[in-house]
Parts: sequence; C-alpha cells; structure tokens
Amino acid sequence: MKPWARVFARLPWARSTRAYAFGLQHVRVPPRARILDIGAGQGRGTAYLTRVFPQALVVGVDLRFDTCLRNAALETGPRPPVFVQADARHLPFAADVFDLVTLVMTFHCLPHPRTVLREVHRVLRPGGVLLLADVDGRHWMRRPFEWVERAFISPNTRVYQPTTWHRWASEAGFNQVRFHKRPGRSRGFMLWMVAEA
Ligand SMILES: C[S@@+](CC[C@H](N)C(=O)[O-])C[C@H]1O[C@@H](n2cnc3c(N)ncnc32)[C@H](O)[C@@H]1O
Repeated sequence: MKPWARVFARLPWARSTRAYAFGLQHVRVPPRARILDIGAGQGRGTAYLTRVFPQALVVGVDLRFDTCLRNAALETGPRPPVFVQADARHLPFAADVFDLVTLVMTFHCLPHPRTVLREVHRVLRPGGVLLLADVDGRHWMRRPFEWVERAFISPNTRVYQPTTWHRWASEAGFNQVRFHKRPGRSRGFMLWMVAEA
C-alpha cells in the first residue's frame, strides 16, 4: 500500500462513521438482518454497523485488508463482523441473502460501478435496501477531491452526478430511489441514496 494512503487512513474523516450514522436514519431493516458493507476499508464503519444492529450478521468486504483493523482493535457490537476479501464485481454470496448493503465512500473508488450495482442487486433479497453514501457530483469540491485521490490514493477515483447514480441504480433493477442531504446542508459535500431491490 502507498505510504500516502496510510497517512490518509489516519485522518479524522477517514476514521469517522458519521456517513453511516446519517444514512442509517433513512433505512429500515429487521433486527436480525444480514448486512453487507462493501469497501470496508479500516473496518470502522463495519464495526459501527454491529453496534447499531447488535443482533445482525454483518459482513465487510474489501479488495484488500492491509489497512483493516483487527476485531480486537475495532469497537464492535456483541456479534463482531466477518471480513471477506473479495471484489465487489463478483461477490462470493448467493442471490437474495442480504437485507441491507452499504456502499459508504466506496462508489467513487470503483472502476466498474454499474457492474457493482447489478451485483449488489443480485445479493439483496427482494425489498432489501441499498444505502449509498458518497461525494455529491454537483459539489464544487468534486474536481479537487478527484485530483487529490487520483494522485495519492487511486487512479480509478471518479465522482458521479446524482442523476447518474439514479440511472445506473434503475438499470440495475432498483426502485423507490430516494436522495438525502443533511438538514440545512442542501449544497453539502456528501449525498446519500437509498434504493430498494
Ligand atoms: C474510502 S474506503 C471506504 C471505507 C469505509 N466504507 C468508510 O467509509 O470508512 C473505499 C474502500 O473501497 C475498497 N474498494 C475499492 N474497489 C473495490 C472493489 N472492486 N471491491 C471491493 N472493495 C473495493 C477500497 O479498497 C477501500 O478500502
């Protein structure tokens, strides 16, 4: 892993679970849900899910786990998460098994986002929910964000417009697509999308 990526992983916003917390206000899942967190990164968001849903089965997937903290170092709920190394384009799970899939600050990293949305739709049960949180492509910081990420983190970084999120989600089979911004921050940097499989 690039040294810069290690430095970025230590910055406060890379350790924050606020994007998960806000997004989860807009989804309903059963207490014993099966939850998949794609792009688990350091694992903090995945661990957060186990605290919010103590009875749930939470699985974190990432291409690589060299920055991921071990469960002992993560603040997990009573049922620690399971981490699986896999490419989100080819998820190693059967169809229709998850109640919720989260893609938090991961969509902009994906070289094949449409393929991933189709794969997410496949593993979600009918009526299951996708929660996508990422940089809002209408924000003026979109370009500087892309430049910095491409230079230091990943050449694949690309931030998309909400209309593109919506179109690709619909093409993948999702419906009831809704967008959310933080109250009072309609022009904020982050955007959340909730869609039903
Ligand atoms: C910025 S991190 C997001 C971490 C976490 N979700 C959070 O918000 O704290 C994005 C993660 O997506 C992972 N990633 C990128 N492409 C992927 C793919 N095709 N399949 C699985 N994970 C991928 C990267 O390895 C990275 O750890």
